[in-house]
Amino acid sequence: LEVNWDVTAAEKEGYPHYMIKEIHEQPRAINRTISPRIKDSLPFFEDDNIPDSFFEDCSDITIIACGTAMYAGMVGKTFIQNKLGIPVNVAIASEFRYERPVITDKSMVIVVSQSGETIDTLEALRLAKKYTQKTLSVVNVKGSSIARESNYVLYTHAGPEIAVASTKAYTVQVASMYLLGCKLGLVTNRLSVEDAKEFINNLTKVPEMIKTVLTQEDKVAELTKRMTNATNAFFIGRGLDYTLSMEGSLKLKEISYIHAEAYAAGELKHGTIALISDGVPVIAIATQDHVYSKVISNIREVKARGAYVTLISKDEVITDKTICDVHIHIPPVADEFTIFESVVILQMIAYYTSTGRGVNPDQPRNLAKSVTVE
Ligand code: AGP
Repeated sequence: LEVNWDVTAAEKEGYPHYMIKEIHEQPRAINRTISPRIKDSLPFFEDDNIPDSFFEDCSDITIIACGTAMYAGMVGKTFIQNKLGIPVNVAIASEFRYERPVITDKSMVIVVSQSGETIDTLEALRLAKKYTQKTLSVVNVKGSSIARESNYVLYTHAGPEIAVASTKAYTVQVASMYLLGCKLGLVTNRLSVEDAKEFINNLTKVPEMIKTVLTQEDKVAELTKRMTNATNAFFIGRGLDYTLSMEGSLKLKEISYIHAEAYAAGELKHGTIALISDGVPVIAIATQDHVYSKVISNIREVKARGAYVTLISKDEVITDKTICDVHIHIPPVADEFTIFESVVILQMIAYYTSTGRGVNPDQPRNLAKSVTVE
């Protein structure tokens, strides 16, 4: 599946940095990634040479990756486990390589990598292939090592990602996980055709959702001015919002050099809340309906201890200052899809905090775009 991008990666198209350009490319990147894999409102992988047999007899799934790609894999885990009831293990590639792999010939192994050259992920794939031939890689760079060595490959079509901090690659990886999870559910009769069609129809609306969130760029830029002097920050949430908070924390760390930590909102009280004091920035994500009231209660706990809380939620407006200092509204969508809206907010928070601190977000210190050393 060739992708004819209308601009080369070498052009910033008038944006000050590749990262903010790539944040804005996400609607197009997702559309180009999912459209070829949807037919009659159902997942379609025949053009990718991924047969239904790949999805059959799947007893369990191991998702292996590093960094942002791993956090995309964790979204896949949450979706597949909750929706299909199939056990999913997400492994850090550099750890998986030295553990006893608990996989069999009926295990599905999904390897996620933007570059397709991350050595830890490549070596983990090679190890997994000693146990199962049901290996599939989700890769953005065509013809890369991981793509060539996995039994099956699903190419994302985000186009070249130049900024070191991954943005559009993450969202197309999550969208790919959703497509694969839907297909797995259909093939294993764990998902009805009706539910799959509804889910896929929602997925096709993601590019427009992101475009709507991008209109809040100026507001996000303004509120991050306060972040530039921070020395620490927390990202908290529950369920998918907790999984997403890990990506938000990494984005902030790697391009602003502010130490940040993602925490399960319900876990803070078991020690870490001791770190909360006056003015500590906490970015709270509360978009999952089934745990919303619990997260709000956890947010009140940190607010009462002096935290400066930025809340991302579906609520139209929150003015209650015992909950948050800043509220960012995202348009209400089904819980599995808020992640595409919230992540754009988190990406912009990291980007504007970085530029506010005089850092070049495209080339942060100590980092390389593809980690080909162990
Ligand atoms: C992403 O912002 C980071 N730069 C980094 O964690 C990256 O996701 C990781 O190195 C994995 O890279 P890959 O997707 O190319 O394998």
